[in-house]
Amino acid sequence: MNGMKRAVGVGVVMLFAGLALACGGGETQAGGGGAGGASATGEAAGTAVTGAEITPDARQEAQQIYSTRCAVCHGAEGYGDGPGAGGLDPKPRNYHDKAWQDSVEDKEIESAIVYGGAAVGRSPAMVANPDLGSKPAVVAALREIIRNFGKQQ
Ligand code: HEC
Repeated sequence: MNGMKRAVGVGVVMLFAGLALACGGGETQAGGGGAGGASATGEAAGTAVTGAEITPDARQEAQQIYSTRCAVCHGAEGYGDGPGAGGLDPKPRNYHDKAWQDSVEDKEIESAIVYGGAAVGRSPAMVANPDLGSKPAVVAALREIIRNFGKQQ
């Protein structure tokens, strides 16, 4: 139970748990399922990045990007209370906000990450990450990190 000491520890443990889960169960399902690719046409039409398959490498890169680029505003634990959050209005999104988690679509999260808040009708203080436009799996993994924060309490 050493992980209970610090919430940061808990977060890291949960992320690793998620990684193990996805490696174990998720991939076999995806392989056995439909390889038709029908979803690519409709859903992703409006945006360049959405719904990419998350590889273990992408998860690792996303984790690194979260700590180096996102935590400064959103906080290491995703509460929107990073050191850079102080002067911002609206505040950086608190990912633990259930109402927000329920209302926001994956596509909006991923678009906000790549194109910035203004592109999805939110604050321009949510900065764009154009370099991630060519890394849809990393963007999807960042979205997964954000969703996982929402599952914690
Ligand atoms: C300079 C501070 C800052 C940094 C750095 C930052 N954000 Fe944000 N982010 C914000 C603010 C402020 C909002 C709230 C925008 C709003 O609600 O209008 C936000 C909102 C969001 C949202 C919610 C968008 C929506 O449509 O509700 C997501 C998702 C997000 N950020 C992800 C990230 C990720 C991932 C990173 C790192 C790659 C990151 N942010 C880096 C300030 C920041």
